[in-house]
Amino acid sequence: MFFSKKKIHEIDMSNLPKHIGIIMDGNGRWAKKRGMPRSAGHSAGADSLKKIITEANNLGIGYITVYAFSTENWKRPKEEVDYLMNLLLNYLRNAEKTLSGENVVIRAIGSRKGLSDEICKQIDKTEKFTENNTGIVMNIALNYGGREEIVHATKEIATIVKNGEMDIKDIDDKVFDSHLYTANQPDVDLLIRTSGEQRLSNFMLWQVSYAEMWFTDKLWPDFKPRDLHQAIIDFQNRGRRFGGV
Ligand code: FPP
Repeated sequence: MFFSKKKIHEIDMSNLPKHIGIIMDGNGRWAKKRGMPRSAGHSAGADSLKKIITEANNLGIGYITVYAFSTENWKRPKEEVDYLMNLLLNYLRNAEKTLSGENVVIRAIGSRKGLSDEICKQIDKTEKFTENNTGIVMNIALNYGGREEIVHATKEIATIVKNGEMDIKDIDDKVFDSHLYTANQPDVDLLIRTSGEQRLSNFMLWQVSYAEMWFTDKLWPDFKPRDLHQAIIDFQNRGRRFGGV
């Protein structure tokens, strides 16, 4: 606790990242180390997530996107997929009360294709319930893939051009950005990945173009608010040049 408080004082509140992305990795290994089923790791991961969202919101971070289920995660055993979907459903249900009480805006980003009606209805309900909140915007990347998002945006723009509503020469970064699931949100400027892996794994390929990447060996269920503080402090100590000098 003392450590955590000490770290918070090192954060420059006038230079917070605008948008943090998190690849929450290592739930399975966390459970295995304890001789528990992988599902227990995911459940502990969901608990960890709640604490991190509360902390990021308290700090005044504007946007956070968490990778909950990728378009590739369908390849996992059915039992694990079912468990994750159920966990997400309950998370959304509970978040409607708890995180909305904390003023969090909850959104799901990703494809609806393949998701059950029950989850889709709950997403709509939770999004509607929290849309007028004014705290942190939490994007839950669910059935999300960066390439799928880019293809989806391209199809939308191509349709507009085909209908004669836009000229090809008017397609630029801004137009493209406005067709992503994260339209009107700032780019991710701090990307965190836990568990020692150092890959993007198809996460927000467009939005992380200039993100500072921060890795830790800690497994996601062990990731604590003080680790978030450390990531932010390290982010603030890096020199960001955006291609300049
Ligand atoms: C990666 O760890 C984690 C996932 C694929 C799922 C992430 C889900 C959560 C943190 C909990 C649920 C989230 C919400 C929003 C309720 P892994 O299973 O690949 O771990 P491993 O690499 O150790 O096997």
